[in-house]
Amino acid sequence: MTQEADQNIALRTDGLWFAYREQDWVLKDVSLSIPLGKVTIIMGPSGTGKTTLLKVLAGILRPLRGRVEVLNQTVEKQAQRSLSTLIGYIPQQLGLVRNLTAMENVLMGALGRCGHGKVLLGVFPRREIEHAKAALDLMGIGHKSDEKVIHLSGGERQRVAIARTLLQRPRVVLADEFVSDLDMALALEILGRIRRAAQQEQITFVLSMHRVGLVRESAEHVLTLSHGKVIPGFPAQGVQGAPGVELPQ
Ligand SMILES: Nc1ncnc2c1ncn2[C@@H]1O[C@H](COP(=O)(O)OP(=O)(O)O)[C@@H](O)[C@H]1O
Ligand SMILES: [Mg+2]
Repeated sequence: MTQEADQNIALRTDGLWFAYREQDWVLKDVSLSIPLGKVTIIMGPSGTGKTTLLKVLAGILRPLRGRVEVLNQTVEKQAQRSLSTLIGYIPQQLGLVRNLTAMENVLMGALGRCGHGKVLLGVFPRREIEHAKAALDLMGIGHKSDEKVIHLSGGERQRVAIARTLLQRPRVVLADEFVSDLDMALALEILGRIRRAAQQEQITFVLSMHRVGLVRESAEHVLTLSHGKVIPGFPAQGVQGAPGVELPQ
């Protein structure tokens, strides 16, 4: 792997090893490159290490060996605060506040930029409110902006979670099992919107998922994780026949 700066790479790992318990390796020598401004899908069956890999990429977990580079800078050298402005991480459970409206949840993405005093009173700068509206519209959920999250469907909540992350103005968004629980048509629609957001806002998206069909339909770039190892350059069409990859149908 070249150590030179590459303008077309958003994330790069080199020989990553990670274990929650000593010697019980979850990630085994993972080296990968994720292209800038595209949607990359990391796929693989449950328990194979997808969530762990995303958390290591986000700087939430530290690798025991190897390193992660975000936009050509090693993660250890980035202060956690600057890392959180570069990377938006969406956990599988989304982390929305159910009793607040979609708009209020989205505005939370701007908290890092706004003075806390006014924000506690619910006063956000006009430009942040405009950005929140635009993000909700981009995700096709603008008409539900005053609806409490508790009243929204799973797919609607996922759109809100993406819109909230866009308010952070990240360069990279990592989303765990993002559309796995949705039916195919809805999942494809949301993936289409994510692709548009990637193009319009020049954001790199990395989505983990375990559903093969979706991947085949929607991938710009696919990596397969199998038993903690990456199968490089594996085309989406060939995934079902991959050695060592047992995927649910
Ligand atoms: N917090 C944790 N402590 C110990 N083991 C964990 C923890 N989280 C995940 N694991 C284990 O690590 C392995 C990979 O899990 P995970 O990264 O969640 O896989 P995936 O997201 O592909 O389902 C599994 O064997 C899982 O049991
Ligand atoms: Mg997982």
